[in-house]
Amino acid sequence: MRRPIIAGNWKLNLTIAESRQLAQQLADSLADITDRDVVIAPVFTALTTVAGVIEKSPVQLAGQNCYPQITGAFTGEISPEFLADAGCTHVILGHSERRQLLGETDDFINQKLLKTLEAGLNPILCIGETLQEREAGQTLKVLDRQIKGGLANLTAEQMADIVIAYEPIWAIGTGKTATAEQAQQAHSFIREVVLQLFNPEVAENTRILYGGSVKPNNVDGLMAEEDIDGALVGGASLKAEDFIRIVRFAG
Ligand code: PGA
Repeated sequence: MRRPIIAGNWKLNLTIAESRQLAQQLADSLADITDRDVVIAPVFTALTTVAGVIEKSPVQLAGQNCYPQITGAFTGEISPEFLADAGCTHVILGHSERRQLLGETDDFINQKLLKTLEAGLNPILCIGETLQEREAGQTLKVLDRQIKGGLANLTAEQMADIVIAYEPIWAIGTGKTATAEQAQQAHSFIREVVLQLFNPEVAENTRILYGGSVKPNNVDGLMAEEDIDGALVGGASLKAEDFIRIVRFAG
């Protein structure tokens, strides 16, 4: 049985004060959660504040990105070691917004992923196709390339610390969720590629999250699918009530 993960990606939203308030609401309301992982990813400037608020709760902390070096002359960047120092246990890598706006490549994302593992953090590797790619029948080809590129040079043992997030770009922030069936199809393909790359045990144990307009009213249907092990939530993770309902999905 794979342990579900619900992760909130706050993106470039919420001041330190607003982050503290939302984190406090989550820490209070989710104190009883034991059977699933809950992760939130605030902006960098709010990380240490939020870390203090959620310290004694089941809620865990993630960075939204990192640079594949430990320390040094890398102005403006942040390394996985410094994220760990701020209290993070996870890092979101290769989000489609970074791939599209900042030109991140599979190779660069793979370097970040390897450094993240060295720092003892859990990477959440995001992959997903554009609408154009889906309409051109390229979805599986794109996913195959992103998985193989992102997971290059990894051992089967290291896969225990990796979470994959399937986020079709056309579903992000658009209110257009993939149907549970479309998502399941992609997830089962991703698991097959992981099987090809590693072994049946790794494929069986790897957690694959769905992301793209996950809301309180669609989470239960998505989570009922065999290969969907959790959600990466953007917009709805900024509202305590919605995120709490998503964490408490039925199933
Ligand atoms: P959304 O974002 O839930 O607002 O669609 C998801 C994401 O980008 O991780």
